Amino acid sequence: MFDYQLHHIVVTWLRYAGDIIKNSFERDIWIDTKESDRDLVTEMDRFLEKDLVQRIRSGFPGHRIISEEGFGDTVRDTKGFIWTIDPIDGTMNYVKQRENFGTMIGLFYNGNPIAGYLYTPMDDKLIYGIVGEGVFVNERRLKPMDVSHLKDSILLTSNEYLLRNDLNLQEIHAAAFSSRATGASILKFMQVIEGKAATFVMPHSHVWDFAAGWAICEALGMKCTQSDGSPLSILQGSSLVVANPTVHQEVLEIINQ
Ligand code: IPD
Ligand code: CA
Ligand code: CA
Repeated sequence: MFDYQLHHIVVTWLRYAGDIIKNSFERDIWIDTKESDRDLVTEMDRFLEKDLVQRIRSGFPGHRIISEEGFGDTVRDTKGFIWTIDPIDGTMNYVKQRENFGTMIGLFYNGNPIAGYLYTPMDDKLIYGIVGEGVFVNERRLKPMDVSHLKDSILLTSNEYLLRNDLNLQEIHAAAFSSRATGASILKFMQVIEGKAATFVMPHSHVWDFAAGWAICEALGMKCTQSDGSPLSILQGSSLVVANPTVHQEVLEIINQ
């Protein structure tokens, strides 16, 4: 039985983080770069991750944390409870658009997904999934739009990968109704989970980029795997294919043909 007290605590954290992010638009924040000129990080990414890590450490001692900005733990095995945190997914959108970003939190036990949370503060939208209990959008049980075939719906990916034709993405684009790139994994997960897109495909995704969405897909009965169909792991980043089982099979066939 899932611990609903923990659930309410996580939702409170996310709304608090959202208020802090929204208030940050009232002042100047410092912005830095990481691996390239276009890989942005801000004081808010670091502040929020540090804050969430401290909250988990004081509320749930013994649990470990995998997170983007380095405040979590070095995790080399999947034993016990492990949280994943992306404090701001879509940092470039946060800086350049002031919308289309959000916070992602996942919870795993012995490497298996337990719960996932996706929260976008600018529209106050929360999608969460608890394995065995279901998936909820702003507290209403999700009724996903029906996506039977790739040809009737949309591919979500990143423009750079589509242009490079990684994972045969141009062929997947041609087989789909069309494709979209939103610049944030959180939005792509939200859209594919709600059935607003048929599939979300990435040649590479970090653990904090896919873990929360993976847990929600698990709660919904959607498939979320690597591009060869093998299972994801919270110990390493990998390629990513997200879709309902029928479309997932269609996409894997195009990638691996
Ligand atoms: C990035 C976004 C982007 C995806 C990158 C991620 P960040 O996350 O989700 O859409 O293409 O791979 O790293 O850096 O904004 O947390
Ligand atoms: Ca991210
Ligand atoms: Ca991030």
